[in-house]
Amino acid sequence: MIIIRKVAELLDFVGHQKETGHSIGLVPTMGALHAGHLSLVERAVKENDCVVASVFVNPTQFNNPTDLATYPRKEEDDFKLLAEAGVSAVFAPSVEEIYPGGPEAQPRHEFELGEAAEVMEGKFRPGHFQGVAQVVSILFRLCSPTRAYFGEKDFQQIAVIRNMVKSEGIDVDIVACPIKRADDGLALSSRNALLTGRQRKVAPEIHKTLAYSVDYAKDHSIRATHDTVVERIDAIPEMKVEYFEIVDARTLLPVEEWDESPWIVGCITVYCGSVRLIDNITYKNTF
Ligand code: PAF
Repeated sequence: MIIIRKVAELLDFVGHQKETGHSIGLVPTMGALHAGHLSLVERAVKENDCVVASVFVNPTQFNNPTDLATYPRKEEDDFKLLAEAGVSAVFAPSVEEIYPGGPEAQPRHEFELGEAAEVMEGKFRPGHFQGVAQVVSILFRLCSPTRAYFGEKDFQQIAVIRNMVKSEGIDVDIVACPIKRADDGLALSSRNALLTGRQRKVAPEIHKTLAYSVDYAKDHSIRATHDTVVERIDAIPEMKVEYFEIVDARTLLPVEEWDESPWIVGCITVYCGSVRLIDNITYKNTF
């Protein structure tokens, strides 16, 4: 595996792969890798001739400076894991390399991300998806991937990236990969490393409650299902639900009746102490 820090080097590497007729799988990450990321890499390795993983904590998608400052960074461990997983090249640029002159100096470009970007994360983290679209579109331009791999824990992010790819006319296959969970059900996330012992003990209640609510939903309304999830999680002293929305999985817009859409998911964000955890569950998919 080669480690690439500079855009020019990456363009050389990608150019060579393209000349050789190789397909390129891209796995964009912000590092602090866990088994969830490695499952994306594993799939990318199976489906492509060459896999590029990026490790870049993108400042433009953080609307909270403390969140950016405390985001876990473990570059050496990440490189080791990526090499073992069969990645051909890791792109780990500096902020200056991606945003010459700094993020504020970049030409203003408002991405058309659709209504899917206005709800949930879009509402609670203003500017977040514009930042995600900005960095992902740069990575797509530099890597010209055949396929790009994203985890379904960030369910809304995948929908927004699909909208970005469409509105920017980028030719790439977006591959959505299932959530990886710890044995106790907690969705794997780089942020889990920030949980205290006690918080880590109670955090699996998020998935447990969502899983319970799938059964509950069989004979209750969307409103009742929503309320029971929020009440159960908020009853745990360390936890506070920021939002829980039951939505059409294709538009990410709220639904009011179970028969309103063939594909319905519940998306949740919970503060466990000061750590922001997200998860989701499928209630129905006959799509
Ligand atoms: O999901 C993430 O880790 C990030 O949002 C991504 C896609 C790597 C862009 O910075």
